[in-house]
Amino acid sequence: MSRRKLIAGNWKMNGLREESARLVSALLAKGKIDADILLCPSATMLDEVGKMLQGSPLMLGGQDCHGAPSGAFTGDISAAQLKDVGCSHVIVGHSERRGGHGETDGLVAAKAQAALAAGLCPIVCVGENEAQRKSGDALAVVGRQLAGSLPPGAKGSQFVVAYEPVWAIGSGRTPTPGEVQEVHAYLRKILTDRIGEGAHSTRILYGGSVKPANAGELMTLPDVDGGLIGGASLDAEAFWAIALASLTVNA
Ligand code: PGA
Repeated sequence: MSRRKLIAGNWKMNGLREESARLVSALLAKGKIDADILLCPSATMLDEVGKMLQGSPLMLGGQDCHGAPSGAFTGDISAAQLKDVGCSHVIVGHSERRGGHGETDGLVAAKAQAALAAGLCPIVCVGENEAQRKSGDALAVVGRQLAGSLPPGAKGSQFVVAYEPVWAIGSGRTPTPGEVQEVHAYLRKILTDRIGEGAHSTRILYGGSVKPANAGELMTLPDVDGGLIGGASLDAEAFWAIALASLTVNA
């Protein structure tokens, strides 16, 4: 099955409104592309970026949401609030949240469930750390994370998975294309065991030091359906070059 590529920009805690508006304008000026493009700015900029994206094919996403629909959760954002401001997607379980905020698989699953309930598509992130990769445990770790972080009953097209090795994020290092394909095929097998044929419609993104120079070889692997791009998504030229490189023939 051919899955439409999804190229998502995770801006993390970067940018102020003015430079972000410049980045969005530059991306809007790029014109049409045969891939889904998603921008995930900081919460303070969602409204403004969302307004700029109105009427364009570019989509808006949040970087995190709470697992509860509403309530006394100071500093948190609900999935419904993201939806209200124009989001279609939300990243959940990024390693910077798992590591920096102690998020467990169970909590990530609750967030993904909340996203689905609000009509958002969760992007569920998994990834091994360097010690786990070196000890040969990468597949076991990401398999466990995925199984524990998926909301029960979700259909394959309702969520996205992102494989992001922790040691590759922001480091300039990536697994080899063979290693990336191995993990993605394994994740798809776990999805298939769980949800059956629907797993063929799930998009599995690779993230971690994706740049224009390596996007062609990483984004076109058989089970890689796009990318979750951090640093390079803050540069319109680099982000667009990655999106274009993802469109070379997918065998
Ligand atoms: P990076 O980040 O592209 O800067 O490595 C990816 C991510 O954390 O989503």
